[in-house]
Amino acid sequence: MTGPRDELSYWLQSAPGSPYPALEGPEAVDVAVIGGGIAGLSTAWELIKAGRRVAVLDAGRVAAGVTGNTTAKVTAQHGSIFAHLTDSAGREAARLYGRSQLDAMAHLAAIVAELGVDCELEQKTAYSYSTREDQVGDLQAEAAAARDAGLPAAFVTETGLPFDVAGAVRVTGQAQFHPRRFLIALAEGIAERGGLIFEDSRVLDIEGGGPYRLRSANGEVTAADVVVTTGYPVFDKAKLFTRLTPRRELVLAAPIPAESDPDGMYVTSEDHMRSVRTAPYGDGRRLLIITGESFKPGEGDVAARFERLATWAGVHFGATGFRYRWAAQDNDTPDRLPFVGKASFGTGRVYVATGFGGWGMTNGVMSARLLTGLLTEDPRPWTDLYDPHRFHLREAVPILKAQTQVAKHFIGDRVDPPGEETAVGELACGKGTVLRVDGTPTAVYRDDDGSLHAVSAICTHLGCTVAFNDAERTWECPCHGSRFATDGTVLQGPANEPLDRRPLPEEDDG
Ligand code: FES
Repeated sequence: MTGPRDELSYWLQSAPGSPYPALEGPEAVDVAVIGGGIAGLSTAWELIKAGRRVAVLDAGRVAAGVTGNTTAKVTAQHGSIFAHLTDSAGREAARLYGRSQLDAMAHLAAIVAELGVDCELEQKTAYSYSTREDQVGDLQAEAAAARDAGLPAAFVTETGLPFDVAGAVRVTGQAQFHPRRFLIALAEGIAERGGLIFEDSRVLDIEGGGPYRLRSANGEVTAADVVVTTGYPVFDKAKLFTRLTPRRELVLAAPIPAESDPDGMYVTSEDHMRSVRTAPYGDGRRLLIITGESFKPGEGDVAARFERLATWAGVHFGATGFRYRWAAQDNDTPDRLPFVGKASFGTGRVYVATGFGGWGMTNGVMSARLLTGLLTEDPRPWTDLYDPHRFHLREAVPILKAQTQVAKHFIGDRVDPPGEETAVGELACGKGTVLRVDGTPTAVYRDDDGSLHAVSAICTHLGCTVAFNDAERTWECPCHGSRFATDGTVLQGPANEPLDRRPLPEEDDG
């Protein structure tokens, strides 16, 4: 694979935006929203329109986390969700899911129109396809279930892809856009209407029981209600960490001639997931955006996964010279429905939106509509469907499976901690490894200049041992997906505190 410029997504490179100030001093609002991605900003927007005074606090920059790295498909077609819901939860649940997602799509388009924002919103047909004949029956069942749930869906055997498929579920009238352009305009709209937006303002703790006091390094916000939209929740009142499974996906993008555009949005679960779309790129070209190689953070081999994705893109689309590469991370739930609603029990007023399963654009807006309905006592018809406190027996097996994996690390890392080596050995530049330094598991990274950097290898969330991502040069936790820079800075939660600096290990004399 040749020429990736860096790990910043195309969306972040092509729409850098202007910074917002950090929180300093005290503020008092009706609602504090923690996390400034599509779910957080959309919730702030809806609440402001409902007359609430709102503050959004982001640990980094708004629209730069999960949303800044998405593939930005605005579609109600989410793989095989409708057949799954019809089978597991019944037709009514599938229909409510369809209604809630179509409502979110229409609402997003209405906001784009209201703000007059040029975010390259394009109407496209979405396809969920398979190249395997033995999958045709499942695709036909999904097409029927999606149609029953209100989507304009059909089973087809022809697509715009440059290779044959055994079949596909085609859903017309879906959309795609430039997520950062949209969210930058949305943030401006929030600020213009009196909303407060704070960047570089990690919330360190929440005190009180309503009103709540949210403390950052240099300031404090008092709020009657708190909404947590940080992806994996950093404040987890509903104990969702036992029911969320993080998943990371890699993205490559390269300009292609406009005539090579497959003209649609495509997804398959084959080959560890493949997703295809294009975006406007100028000069008669489109930007081909390929996503795939779905894996659990901390599983390693990320460089090899990027290579596999590049090979696939080259074989099927003739794409080479990827100008952009990045990765996105979202969380799956046991029943494939997001957790959106009240996080705290009883009279608590902390709310959460998470577990979007890779479909964050519609689920982010759906969450905003649902949460605003709850906070303004005008609940949406699908509120119970997404209730974070739901539990159905059918979730037991997926929960057990996910938790067995976590327990392997959670218990195994304590009984038999990784990092038996005590010296750094032949660690090459750009590589990382876990060693024992002074008896403590230590994450050691050698930079391109040959200098070593050492931080604690114990994740600050719940204490699993981190592993090195060799392509993105980050430390990742296999338990709940927290990510850290090589200097220990938190890149992604649920961890909310950095990895401590550690003494450097011994260098071999050679
Ligand atoms: Fe939970 Fe690391 S993310 S222990």
